[in-house]
Amino acid sequence: MKIGIIGTGNMGQALGRLWVAKNHLIMFGSRDPVNVLKLANSLGPNVSGGTYADAAQFGEVVVLAVPWSSAKESIEAAGDLGGKILIDCTNAVAPHLGGLLVGHTTSAAEEIATWVEGAKVVKAFHTIGSENLNKLEFGTQKASTFICGDDLEAKSMVKQLAIDLGFDAIDVGPLKNARLTEPLAMLWIELAYNQGMGTDIAFKLLTRRKSK
Ligand SMILES: NC(=O)c1ccc[n+]([C@@H]2O[C@H](COP(=O)([O-])OP(=O)(O)OC[C@H]3O[C@@H](n4cnc5c(N)ncnc54)[C@H](OP(=O)(O)O)[C@@H]3O)[C@@H](O)[C@H]2O)c1
Repeated sequence: MKIGIIGTGNMGQALGRLWVAKNHLIMFGSRDPVNVLKLANSLGPNVSGGTYADAAQFGEVVVLAVPWSSAKESIEAAGDLGGKILIDCTNAVAPHLGGLLVGHTTSAAEEIATWVEGAKVVKAFHTIGSENLNKLEFGTQKASTFICGDDLEAKSMVKQLAIDLGFDAIDVGPLKNARLTEPLAMLWIELAYNQGMGTDIAFKLLTRRKSK
């Protein structure tokens, strides 16, 4: 699959490095034209680099991996996302990890969906720290990721990308359920950084039903 990644920080790089190892084609989009080419060149022929707009144009799937505070301007810089699957992994965290800036009656994902005409927004990968993405097995269990979105085909493609990473990928319904999963991400942050558990933690949905 052709995946454009907007932002070359912890999440963007971790996702891109792991997906290219699964034979996906990656274009990193960055505000820094020099470093993004260095990054791409270091990862082999299936990785390229460009601007946010280049990455958005390249990807069938585009990942928004920037701080919430720059999400809107990054989306604007990405240009036309019509018809694209846009994975939102952002967390709208207040300064000093002081809670969520968006919630209850909306979510970061739903806000983003209002900024991207014609894109199919899917929320995923936000309830775990990036340092776990290359080690999603905890003993015999795989960490869960909670995927929501309004377009079934888009969700199913993102689910496959999550499985490629090694997640136990769970479809938790429409995009408005990001109102429920974004606080779960805040709980992860709270436990990891404020309650002393550290980042080597993940959520797992237990079930007695066979997964679909
Ligand atoms: N880190 C995690 O463990 C984790 C886990 C789950 C979700 N998230 C969420 O994923 C998103 C990205 O997190 P991250 O940890 O990858 O962030 P990060 O390491 O700070 O990187 C964010 C990237 O966004 C781009 N960016 C655009 N505007 C920016 C600005 N004004 N200031 C700084 N960077 C800017 C930069 O890429 P370019 O310089 O290439 O443009 C930067 O490398 C955030 O919304 C975060 O809440 C993070």
